[in-house]
This record gives sequence, structure tokens and C-alpha cells, in this order.
Amino acid sequence: MLLTTVLLFSSLLASSVLAGPHARLKNPKERPKKHTPLLEVLSTVHSNSTASKTFSPVTVAPKENIFISLTNDEAASVISFLHNQTELNLTSAVDAGAWDNAIEVLDLVQPNKTDALHYLDHNGAVPPRYAVARIAFGATEEPYHQDFIVGPLPISKRSTYASLDWPTTSGSAKIRNYNADDDTLLQWNVDVTATVADIVLDLLNGTATGSDDDDFDIWGIDPLWMEEIDGEQRVILWNTYWRYPSDEDAVFDGETLLPQGLFFKSDITGRDPSKWKVLGWLYGDIFYSTTEEFRQAWKSPGFVKYQLNLPGEWIGSDQTGQHFLADTIAPPVAVQPNGQRFSVDEKQKYVEWMDFSFYITFTRDTGLRLFDIKYRGERVIYELGLQEAIAHYAGNDPVQSGTAYMDTFYGFGPYAFELVPGYDCPTYSHFLNSTFHAAELSKTHRNNICLFESDPGYLMQRHSSSNYLALTKNIVLTLRSVSTVGNYDYSFDYVFALDGSIETIVRASGYIQSAYYAKNNDYGYQVHDALSGSMHDHVLNWKVDMDVLGTENTFVKHKIAPAVVKYPWANNTRSTMRLERERIENENDAKLSWPANGADMFLVENSNQLNKYGEPKGFKIAPSRGGAGMFLTIQDRYARRVWEMCC
Ligand SMILES: *[C@@H]1O[C@H](CO)[C@@H](O)[C@H](O)[C@H]1NC(C)=O
Ligand SMILES: *[C@@H]1O[C@H](CO)[C@@H](O)[C@H](O)[C@H]1NC(C)=O
Ligand SMILES: *[C@@H]1O[C@H](CO)[C@@H](O)[C@H](O)[C@H]1NC(C)=O
Ligand SMILES: *[C@@H]1O[C@H](CO)[C@@H](O)[C@H](O)[C@H]1NC(C)=O
Ligand SMILES: *[C@@H]1O[C@H](CO)[C@@H](O)[C@H](O)[C@H]1NC(C)=O
Ligand SMILES: *[C@@H]1O[C@H](CO)[C@@H](O)[C@H](O)[C@H]1NC(C)=O
Ligand SMILES: *[C@@H]1O[C@H](CO)[C@@H](O)[C@H](O)[C@H]1NC(C)=O
Repeated sequence: MLLTTVLLFSSLLASSVLAGPHARLKNPKERPKKHTPLLEVLSTVHSNSTASKTFSPVTVAPKENIFISLTNDEAASVISFLHNQTELNLTSAVDAGAWDNAIEVLDLVQPNKTDALHYLDHNGAVPPRYAVARIAFGATEEPYHQDFIVGPLPISKRSTYASLDWPTTSGSAKIRNYNADDDTLLQWNVDVTATVADIVLDLLNGTATGSDDDDFDIWGIDPLWMEEIDGEQRVILWNTYWRYPSDEDAVFDGETLLPQGLFFKSDITGRDPSKWKVLGWLYGDIFYSTTEEFRQAWKSPGFVKYQLNLPGEWIGSDQTGQHFLADTIAPPVAVQPNGQRFSVDEKQKYVEWMDFSFYITFTRDTGLRLFDIKYRGERVIYELGLQEAIAHYAGNDPVQSGTAYMDTFYGFGPYAFELVPGYDCPTYSHFLNSTFHAAELSKTHRNNICLFESDPGYLMQRHSSSNYLALTKNIVLTLRSVSTVGNYDYSFDYVFALDGSIETIVRASGYIQSAYYAKNNDYGYQVHDALSGSMHDHVLNWKVDMDVLGTENTFVKHKIAPAVVKYPWANNTRSTMRLERERIENENDAKLSWPANGADMFLVENSNQLNKYGEPKGFKIAPSRGGAGMFLTIQDRYARRVWEMCC
């Protein structure tokens, strides 16, 4: 390890720390005082192996990045190949409507791990490359999406395509799409609104007619709901009105701050909108089961009208109010005085920093992914990346309480935009581009990944005695990208530290999706004139495939348990605590159910690779910034709904 430890010798400091009342070492051994000047700084580098080589910020990956995203040429040839398969009956994406079949997304099918390891570790053949193509089948009464595996690449006479069933739990890569008719639905929303245009104008002071100067955008739950009505499964949509930010505020897309408090329920089963029905209206927490009933109530004298939720300067994120006097003085900045201290192979998207090395890839669905993370030349993680991000809402209204976004559907790739030096990442960061393939287009977003070293602002180690003070800088390497999925900005960090730890961090920013304030007190606080926060869980899960000195790893839980122990050296018992070690044998027991008081430690170890003291080598899995114990609060609902909707 290449650690720079700074030793500060200071007799002044030493004497002032010597005699604290709580010193644990009651009688530290007196050592002869070294005669050193005040604050002489010595750097000790515990290595001599690099002395003859010079560092370069450019490197060549030891192996081809077999995980790297599809190239534009690969994507183009897969598109051409699929269009040649007449039974798929594809329409080119640019011309496709709801009643056509079209390619939605292309990505790499990651190589099978055995093949990948054979290549990486045993000089085996480069694993064959395959693409996954997600196709929307719209030219049918029952539209669906299906994933196909296409390859090997490059496309040749040997290339074939097949349903990509084997990675799924259900055994089928086909999923019914109940939401295929976007344009029809837009028209439906406008048509429904037309039946109550006078009420909407009166209650919400605006119109939604499908024209460019509409005041309202109409949308609702995601995903759609299934409900049994008269013994039949019906596809249900709850919608609400969202006011468009006014022209003066238009640069800020604060639409999710402008829910209007009026809701309607539709049965949109099937693809023929003449068979769709309005099943009721909701306003002020009162449900009206027909449009006529709603109209009668609105006309009646006791009808309660609620406040308007209107746009204004408040939806913007520009600074308002008085500036701090010090705001005119430049704040501290981070600098990299002697240049970059990590090496990058930009073509292969490969990085080496201190004891770590890894390969980067990028997918349309989940954005950044890391492969083959090595520490001191040994693989510790085969794959690390986001799998899914759910945002599950709650509220007194049917839209908030019916919303559970699965954000990989929208995709983290397409919304990872260029990062701003000096704001998103330090000015001296190393930026990388990324490419994704959707709707038959290959798009490259420039500088949307950054890598940088930084000082987190606290030491890795310190100690002092009356004779010395030892301090070790804590420098970390961060790999970052930010995805703005709708109203949310998710900032993803992979942080590598000199002590061998790796941390995944996500920070959320952007706009909240809020609720109309009326009667929502159990689900949020009133935050503006007619606006409430909307309670929700964000649960993001990562895949981490750890390989500690090989693939034969064991998952172990160590419980820190209170104990009453009778020792051989005492007649009385003692209240104490001790370690209870448990090897996990099945996936159910392997759930990371973080215990109260942080009293379980989760370890991935290689039980066959012991250190010189006979202890297995491994990594501890520790909770990151969110704290331990985060999981979906809402129980047993979304899973059922997804299964109901699946084929
Ligand atoms: C320094 O490097 C030489 C040659 O690589 C090696 O033989 C020696 O053991 C190293 N010394 C230390 C202290 O690591
Ligand atoms: C698809 O068919 C066209 C016309 O027959 C041919 O030129 C093209 O090479 C084919 N594409 C692929 C990838 O096979
Ligand atoms: C192929 O798709 C078109 C719409 O793009 C549709 O009209 C036609 O019926 C489909 N053909 C078959 C055989 O499914
Ligand atoms: C990868 O593994 C799957 C599942 O075992 C198998 O069906 C598939 O053929 C393998 N792919 C290759 C390229 O060997
Ligand atoms: C209602 O809308 C009209 C026309 O846009 C506007 O002049 C009026 O001020 C609005 N009323 C309220 C209470 O916002
Ligand atoms: C990113 O893309 C731009 C424009 O194509 C190119 O000039 C630059 O070299 C790329 N950066 C990397 C790190 O590949
Ligand atoms: C425990 O108690 C017995 C009987 O009083 C005594 O002989 C013995 O020394 C005690 N042992 C210890 C470890 O204190």
C-alpha cells in the first residue's frame, strides 16, 4: 500500500495534550525527547517499488473491456438484422405509432460470468457479444413488450435471435403492456374534461382542451391499477390535473408542485376508447360515482371550494431574499496541485487508482455499472451497479396513494446529462462520455461521468502522545453520474477509499412530486398555499457480486449478543456481550434485515482463504449514508399488483 503519512513533531503540542484528566494511559513510558523544531513535516512513503517508474494518468487496460456498452455499429447492425426478421413485423421507430411493433431499447447482454472469468483470469477466448433488444408489440389487441437476445455480434450468418427468457424469475421475457395507447389516452383525458369544462373552470380557473394554451396537464397513477368489477379484471387509471408553470416561470419545470386537487377514475380496459368509462370524480376528499352526481353536488349551495394552487416565483430555485454579506466573497475551492493521480484508459473505460482498478460500463436502464473491481491485484467485486429504484407514494388522494414509479423503466441512462465542473464535480475532474441506444437512435452524452480524487475533510487516522502526533490524510476516489428522471435528480457516487472500503451513495434533488393540500395532513405537511408534501419511500437496490479471493464465498452474520457469562476465574456471573457467528445457508436467511442497535454484522468471506491467524478474509457490508434498516414501508402491495399485471 502506498500511504503517505505525515508526522508532525511538536513539543508545544505534545505538552499541551499530555496531562488531560481523562488520559487512559496513566503512566506512559517516558521517552527521551527528540530535539525537533516546531512543526517539522516529514513524509514517509512505505514503498520503494515505484521509485524507478513514473506515474502516468493514461493507461492501457490489461484486458479488453468485455462489459462495455454496444458500439453504434453493433446497435445499427442489430436494428438492421431485426428489421429483416419478417415475423417480427417491425416498423422503424421514427414512424411507429401505438399500433405498430417497434424496437424500444438495445443494450449489451453481459457475458456469462464463467466465460468472462475464463477470459479475465485464464487467457480464455473473448466471450461472444450479444445484444438485448426490447421490442414493443403494438400491432395486436393485447400489446406487450418482449426482450430478445441477438447475436453473436458482429451480425453474421451465425447470428440468431430468441426470447431472452433465462434471466427472468418468471421464465418469460414477455410482459403485457396495458399502457400502449398514449395518444388515445391524451384525447380521452381532454374528452372527459370537456364534459365538466365549466366545473373545471370554476374550481381550478383554467382549461384543458388539448390546445397549446392549455392550463392543465392531465396524468395520474403509474403503474396502472387492476380492479375486479362485476367479476372481471378491469384496467383502472386515476388521473388528476397539474397546472403548467406560467410563462414567466416557464424555465423552471415545477409542474409536480402544481397538483390541482381534482381527480377522476377511468376504466381503460382494452384498446377501443369508445368502451372506456368514467367511474367517478373526487374533489375535497368526497367521491362522486358519476359525472352527473359530481355536477349536482357542485351546483348545490353547500359545495365547498378549495384554494387554488397557482404557480409563481416560488416554484423557481433561484436565490431569493437577502444575500449573506459574505456571499460576495469567493468560497473555498478544491485544487489538484500536481495533476491527476489516477490512470484512465478512455477507450476501454478502465481506471486504476492506488490499490484499486475497475472497468466501467453504462446501460440505458440503470446507467453506470462497474465490473472486475480489484484491490491490490485481486478481484473483490465482479459486478456492482444499480438494479432498480422505486419511489412509492402515499397520500389521501388516489393518485398519490396509487403511484409507485419503477425508474429503470424511464431509464437512468437517457437522463444522465453533462455534468458541470465546479458544481457537479470538482473543476479538475476527469470526464467520460456515455452512449445508449433507444428508439433506434444511438446517443452519446458528453461528460456525464466524472472521476475525481478529493479530501473528504477528515483524517483516515490520527494519534498523538506526549512525544508525537501522527496524522494520515484520507483521500478518496469518486466515480459520479447524475440522472434527472422526471422531477428527480439522482446523484450516484461510487467511492473508493485507501482503507479498501467501497461506498455506494445516492443523493436525491430536484422537485418533489407533491400533493394537493386538502385533507392530506396524515401524509404530509402543508408547504405552500394549497400544497402538501407527499410522503414517499425511495428504495434503490444495488447488485453487488463479491468475489473474495475467488468465487467460493460465504455469507456470514455476526451477531453482537448480550450475554451473562460465568468465567472460570470468578464465582459470580458477569453481564457482557459476545460474538455469535452464523454461516448463512439460504437466500431467505441472507436478507439484510438490519437489526435494532446495529447489532448484526454482515460479512462476505472466503472461508478457505485464511490469514496467518486462521481468520477468513472477507469484507463487511455496512449501511451507508441512509442509515440501516431502510426498506419499503408499504407492505405487500406493489408486488401483488405487478404479478396481477404480468402475463
Ligand atoms: C525495495 O525494492 C527492492 C527491489 O524491488 C526490493 O528487493 C526490496 O525488498 C524493497 N525494499 C522494501 C523495504 O520494500
Ligand atoms: C437485411 O437485409 C438487407 C436486404 O436484404 C441486407 O442488405 C442487410 O445486409 C440485412 N441486414 C442484416 C444485418 O442482415
Ligand atoms: C404488421 O404490423 C402492421 C402495423 O404496423 C399491422 O397493420 C399488420 O396487421 C401486422 N401484420 C401482421 C401479420 O401481424
Ligand atoms: C449464458 O447462460 C445462459 C443460462 O445458463 C445460457 O442459456 C446461455 O446460452 C449462455 N450464453 C452463452 C453465450 O453461453
Ligand atoms: C383566473 O384566471 C383568469 C384568466 O387567466 C385571471 O385573470 C384571474 O386572475 C384568475 N383568478 C385567480 C383567482 O387566480
Ligand atoms: C467525449 O466526446 C467528445 C465529442 O465527441 C470527444 O471530443 C471526447 O474526446 C470524448 N471524451 C472521452 C473521454 O472519450
Ligand atoms: C469460588 O468460591 C469458592 C468457595 O467459596 C472459593 O474456594 C474459590 O476460591 C472461589 N473461586 C474464585 C475464582 O474466586
